[in-house]
Amino acid sequence: MPGPSLVDTFNSTSPDFDFVTPFVWGPAGESLVARGRVALGDRVLDVCSGTGASALAAARVVGPDGHVTAVDFAADLIDRAKTSAYAAGLRNIDFRVDDVTALPGRDDGGYDVLTCGFGVFFLPGMDDSVSNLLTLVRPGGRIAIGVWHDDALYDFTGAYFTEVARVKKTPPPPGPRAPSDGPPHPITRIDTEEKIVDWLESVGATDVSASVLDLRVPRTDEFSWSMVLGSGLRGALAGLDTDAVDDVRTGFLRRLAEEGIVEVDCDTLIAVGQRPAA
Ligand SMILES: C[S@@+](CC[C@H](N)C(=O)[O-])C[C@H]1O[C@@H](n2cnc3c(N)ncnc32)[C@H](O)[C@@H]1O
Repeated sequence: MPGPSLVDTFNSTSPDFDFVTPFVWGPAGESLVARGRVALGDRVLDVCSGTGASALAAARVVGPDGHVTAVDFAADLIDRAKTSAYAAGLRNIDFRVDDVTALPGRDDGGYDVLTCGFGVFFLPGMDDSVSNLLTLVRPGGRIAIGVWHDDALYDFTGAYFTEVARVKKTPPPPGPRAPSDGPPHPITRIDTEEKIVDWLESVGATDVSASVLDLRVPRTDEFSWSMVLGSGLRGALAGLDTDAVDDVRTGFLRRLAEEGIVEVDCDTLIAVGQRPAA
């Protein structure tokens, strides 16, 4: 039986997504916007926006003469982003529920900056998708991509998928980045400074550089379980009843404590580049 679609998974994260925002999505979104040198008056396209961490940060920076378009295919997350923008008094941002891999490319992209936090590794055909998105940026405009750095979440997801496998009575996962026997997770192609610089150049960007945002979150039970329920990790719980989910939760939290993990490594790699000038 096919698993839940990615859209269903992300819509289901909606009640929990913003528990993670102050710890991870928020600071990473602020850094993405700062390192992408988003400036007053810019027109920004934020893709895979979720509840708007980087989109809202960009809207605060570009001011009333700038504009942000935020796109995500999870309508429930976009609804929350809209509410947050409204509550923050931001009127220079609009929201679209759309698959960002289906946005038509163009030769004369009209955006000054494209931002994407923790999204590119979900896109099928990551290279072609990002190459196409780059065409929406004007020649000489910028792209800023945020992804997990290297060992980020490594122990954390390892403990989680081990517990999911125990409860589902499936074989233990070969590794945290490969919870199934499928091909390596696309994140493994872009999780160091060197790899992401090479990759972003290979999809058409120039003047690429990358740096790491150190993001260590104290490991509390509340944060750890919110990080599961408020992220794509939640998808692995699909099909489990309440007791089974509780079993995963208890085993996972106990395992994290027993492994002596005192902080969750959420280090974020941010790469910035440019669409070549025409
Ligand atoms: C881990 S969340 C990150 C959200 C946000 N950028 C942040 O940093 O808080 C990944 C997001 O990518 C979105 N997403 C994944 N694939 C997508 C696609 N093909 N089109 C639109 N959105 C997509 C998901 O719905 C989800 O909101």
